Amino acid sequence: LRTLKVALLGCGNVGAQVARILIEDADTLAARTGARLQLSGIAVRNVNAPRDVELPPELFTTDAETLVKDADLVIELMGGIEPARTLILSALQNGACVVTGNKALLAQDGPTLYEEADKAGVQLSYEAAVAGAIPILRPIRDSLSGDRITKVMGIVNGTTNFILDQMDSTGAQFADALAEAQRLGYAEADPTADIEGHDAAAKAAILATLSFHTRFALENVHCEGITSVTAADIAAAKDAGFVIKLLAIAEKLPAAGTETGGGEGVSVRVHPTLLPREHPLAAVRGAFNAVFIEAENAGELMFYGQGAGGTPTASAVLGDLVSAARRLVLGGPQRTETTTGHVPALPIDAAITSYYIGLDVA
Ligand code: HSE
Repeated sequence: LRTLKVALLGCGNVGAQVARILIEDADTLAARTGARLQLSGIAVRNVNAPRDVELPPELFTTDAETLVKDADLVIELMGGIEPARTLILSALQNGACVVTGNKALLAQDGPTLYEEADKAGVQLSYEAAVAGAIPILRPIRDSLSGDRITKVMGIVNGTTNFILDQMDSTGAQFADALAEAQRLGYAEADPTADIEGHDAAAKAAILATLSFHTRFALENVHCEGITSVTAADIAAAKDAGFVIKLLAIAEKLPAAGTETGGGEGVSVRVHPTLLPREHPLAAVRGAFNAVFIEAENAGELMFYGQGAGGTPTASAVLGDLVSAARRLVLGGPQRTETTTGHVPALPIDAAITSYYIGLDVA
């Protein structure tokens, strides 16, 4: 069997589980890919930091650059913009396939990375960046590539769904529900990116880019978080038969001034939304995620599962890794995605059409 060297950058919750699975399931992964996936090293800031999983100490290094230079496959799970961006670009330029879960980097600078991957003829995959374990990006990119998606609505942040669900089911105030989310380890120590909607907005930009074949950046996304949602708002919604969910929405709409036909644009937005309690997304409880899609020919589809956590997110990373390894074994050109740019983003001030989603589910 051919051996492919795998460099892992970052060893937090997800990275540690990815390393464990690569070691424990080595034989299965070899059988599925036709190559031995050899974990050649794990780049971290501090080699002595405590880890969730016991891993061979000799794998750890602080020299990410050298590790990347010698790898066939690079897994980036460090998060943040730099040095992740430079390391990914260097891996792609060296001809390595890259798997990343870095939604902030993809939402900010995705086009540069996609272009570099296409130029190098290698695969850049990022299933783990949106909705953790849920296979959502590949179905949009591949399974639905012969259809036309008209709308995507997602609960793509587990922390905020947990908070809103707590408020709905117990009558808790926002601050108490947030404290509970932190106690259970759902929210980050600094939960700003979750509760202000920034994490969901990055995921919305990625979903919109793949669904509408146009490059949407974070600045195209209207973003409102859940910090001003009160227990009274939730109770009033409940009385009227609604639930409040933080949704990431991307949908095709007529562009301004073209309501009578002609041009159309895509509205990409994140905001608390009133959903009828009968809507399938209203049934998504706790820290779970779900993505609801409408496509011209497929009709309505829904994807549901764990949107965060070490082991579930590692599942998405490993799926991308196996797919990239298979293609390396088979040879031939690798493609990241196609963005033909035919549907423009609507301006942010035109993005909000309604805070209410109608019950138009068959
Ligand atoms: N903080 C994120 C969430 C983690 O709560 O969903 C996964 O991106």
